[in-house]
Amino acid sequence: MARHVTTLSRTATSLRVAAATAALALLAFASVPATAQDFTTLKGHGGPVMGLAVSPAGRVASASFDNSVGLWQGREPTWLEAHDAAVVDVIFPSDGVIASGGDDFAVRLWQDGAPRLLGRHKGKVTDLALSPDGQTIASASWDGTVALWPLSGGQARWLTELGGGVNDVAFAPDGRHLYAATSAGDLLLFDLTRDDPPRALSQNGFGINEIVLAPDGSWLAYGMVNGTTWVIDPLTGDKLRDFAVERKPVLAMAHHAATGQLAIGYGDGYIITIDTNAWRLSKGFQAMRDGPAWALAWTPDGEMIWAGGIDNVIYGWPVALFGKVEPPDSASRSFLRDAASMPNGERQFMRKCSICHALEPGESRKAGPTLYGIFGREAGTLPGYRYSETLLAANIVWTEDTIDALFDQGPDHFIPRSKMPMQRITRAEDRDDLIAFLKRATE
Ligand code: HEC
Repeated sequence: MARHVTTLSRTATSLRVAAATAALALLAFASVPATAQDFTTLKGHGGPVMGLAVSPAGRVASASFDNSVGLWQGREPTWLEAHDAAVVDVIFPSDGVIASGGDDFAVRLWQDGAPRLLGRHKGKVTDLALSPDGQTIASASWDGTVALWPLSGGQARWLTELGGGVNDVAFAPDGRHLYAATSAGDLLLFDLTRDDPPRALSQNGFGINEIVLAPDGSWLAYGMVNGTTWVIDPLTGDKLRDFAVERKPVLAMAHHAATGQLAIGYGDGYIITIDTNAWRLSKGFQAMRDGPAWALAWTPDGEMIWAGGIDNVIYGWPVALFGKVEPPDSASRSFLRDAASMPNGERQFMRKCSICHALEPGESRKAGPTLYGIFGREAGTLPGYRYSETLLAANIVWTEDTIDALFDQGPDHFIPRSKMPMQRITRAEDRDDLIAFLKRATE
């Protein structure tokens, strides 16, 4: 009952704030935000934002496809660079410490900006979770394992037999149990005090992308590829509720303990919030112009949610503005826009390269070096770009022939162990058109 009253008075406050800020909202897009109630954007990443975390003091950390972690002081980023591929998740083990995991299979710890490799999986790292005592990090991976890394150092403990790529992990509040969700649709419960195989709590036909556990362990919510979110009893697996909107897949979830808001992000950039005290849908709104909403994190006071997705920008949405204003236009989506009307060479570049490579001189913050001036350039020689050892040591000059060979054979064959993703362009005509476009566009 007490909870109910709290919810109602919160709503009343929110409505007043909404009225006061509605007029400011249009201005907020163009100007620096004055208060936490304004809409905010954090800009600087050179690739999509895959993961977000907020420290107890309210600092934002972002994991990006541009291979870096952004640590934000207000709107000023510090870039943490050590990953050799997209970074997909970040957490704050404590205020000054960050852990990150990514497509380079690595789990890293950052203290005062300096990286330390905790270890590596045999596949992409998909999620990180912190144990309730703050001493252990769990990492989930598509290699079908969960690793438990003691922060004090020492060997990791590996949990196996998950029967599929692991998409998400969460510790139970007692710290002795751990939940893991797989792309095969299993929700598994490990008793960490024993070496037994996990108990299957729930099985679905659809991959599970996200799990959230109530801080007191009274419920567990999981979101699936088909767009449905189930709420279950975390001990018995009994189904308590389900929430489905006409959207899919569920890609991100974030719960705010004090207010009981559960936010769910979908493939099209839409976010809903569920009031977990009353178990009802409270809000739904388009958080970004283009989906997917890959990353969500609440501010410590629960007044605002940070959301990240495909367009390199982190959006700060005050609860009072949910659904009240339209998300701004995103400038960085040209690689999907008007693709049909582009000449083939440009379309090849926009679809297959532009997410990682700029064409202009200067720093781009994309995952790969700018291709400006690429023809006649020796491999691995653009000043200021952090190349792999492989490319630094390669004895290649980029010409029509070597770029053709790069995508005829694929980077994994042409220069094995470079940071370039596996990608072949099998049709000679597509490679020719791409190279002709690059010749024009990189001069
Ligand atoms: C997912 C990101 C990604 C995509 C997509 C990508 N690249 Fe790259 N590319 C990289 C990275 C990272 C490097 C640096 C490799 C290293 O240091 O090992 C690189 C390096 C290169 C280089 C060598 C540059 C130099 O200075 O030596 C060329 C040429 C290149 N890419 C061309 C392309 C083209 C053309 C495409 C599209 C067909 C493409 N890349 C798609 C990430 C990407």
